[in-house]
Amino acid sequence: MLRLVLALALIPLPAWSEFFTLKGHGGPIMGIATAPDGRIATASFDNSIGIWTGQTPEWFEGHEAAVNSVAFNGTAIYSAGDDFTLRRWPGGDVVGQHKGKIVGLAASKTHVATASWDGTIGLWPVDGSEPEFLGPTGSGVNAVEFSPDGSQLYSAGVDGSIRIWDVTSGQETNRLVEHGFGINEMVLNTQDNWLAYGAVDGVTRIRDLTTGQERDFTLERRPILALALNPDRSLLAVGDGEGYIMVIDTVNWRIAQDFRATLRGPVWALAFSADGQNIHAGGIDEAMYSWPIANLRDQEQMAAAEPSFLKKPDQMGNGERQFARKCSICHSLTPDSQRRAGPTLHGIFGRNAGALPDYLYSDTLQDSDIIWNEETINALFDEGPDHYIPGSKMPMQRITGAQDRSDLIAFLRRATAPEN
Ligand code: HEC
Repeated sequence: MLRLVLALALIPLPAWSEFFTLKGHGGPIMGIATAPDGRIATASFDNSIGIWTGQTPEWFEGHEAAVNSVAFNGTAIYSAGDDFTLRRWPGGDVVGQHKGKIVGLAASKTHVATASWDGTIGLWPVDGSEPEFLGPTGSGVNAVEFSPDGSQLYSAGVDGSIRIWDVTSGQETNRLVEHGFGINEMVLNTQDNWLAYGAVDGVTRIRDLTTGQERDFTLERRPILALALNPDRSLLAVGDGEGYIMVIDTVNWRIAQDFRATLRGPVWALAFSADGQNIHAGGIDEAMYSWPIANLRDQEQMAAAEPSFLKKPDQMGNGERQFARKCSICHSLTPDSQRRAGPTLHGIFGRNAGALPDYLYSDTLQDSDIIWNEETINALFDEGPDHYIPGSKMPMQRITGAQDRSDLIAFLRRATAPEN
């Protein structure tokens, strides 16, 4: 028994080949950073930072308002937010202070840079010596990035411009982009000689640093809120205000993947895992979601409320376990659909397909004349939704074991009964 409890307490992050969620924050996730050793840092609207090496994080508390950004730098972790402060962890010492919100962070070997809505950029030497402020730029600064050698700093702001600063002199040396709308995010890739930026009007562009030529990946969604480059620089992920993630293949310059990542609200934060195998996203839900890159195509899993399969195996029959593993991430059993990707299964037996008034079904399911019962649900997962109701929004998924299907159906019979 003790062994079992210990085993549950020490559940590590799942194998990277699976979709997983990190849950525990009490508010939207605004920033994500990953360290070379695999740690994940999440910055949240709930004023805290979570440091994750498993399902239970170490919490860093101290900010007095939302935390917008977090960055690993050697052994230290820096964070900044709506309380105008830059803090260093562990400990949470205030190492810097602006006159407005800090919304972006970058770190080099020698400095941490802060992008603030007070219109300036703070340059904070990591050795604790006197800081310097670049600007004022005349409007809020949203994002900062160091060149790899730390000698130059790029900044992007509300005025739609991208500036280059000389870190030693503190002078602006170049104005790279003048976009008519605010630029929210930026990724600098000097190895391949380009800079990507995402703007309030939905523009996503990649600019050649020598020729100034731009590739345009703008879709109809806006604003762009998050950008991330994978470690081998072959994929650029773009998160937007409508909850989608577009992944651009930067070798062939095409859209490799474009999928709805959150059920509601924007994608505020994106980061690739240190090994490049996963993409992590944060948004309005109180969880961080992580998709394995390799399976993005067939997985297309929408983020939803937490899976509940951490119950002890000996307290859970096979049918319930089937449901917990394979359905609960998208379906609730309560009268309310609880913001999940699929409709609640409460009262499903005897119900016409596509019948819930407050759920937006695909036309296919809405127009079908299926009535859900033991046989039809069995057929759904024996054949797979892609064969049984081609064109529905249900993910491709078969349950090949007849016993597993019948256990699942027996569990659903009990758990979805209207009197529950
Ligand atoms: C990744 C999300 C996801 C998973 C996992 C999932 N479903 Fe669904 N399910 C959906 C969506 C989305 C719909 C609505 C489909 C549509 O509108 O075309 C749906 C619809 C259904 C319906 C029809 C509901 C209705 O009101 O007509 C049933 C029954 C169902 N799912 C059962 C299951 C069962 C049982 C499992 C587990 C074995 C499961 N689903 C796993 C997303 C999911």
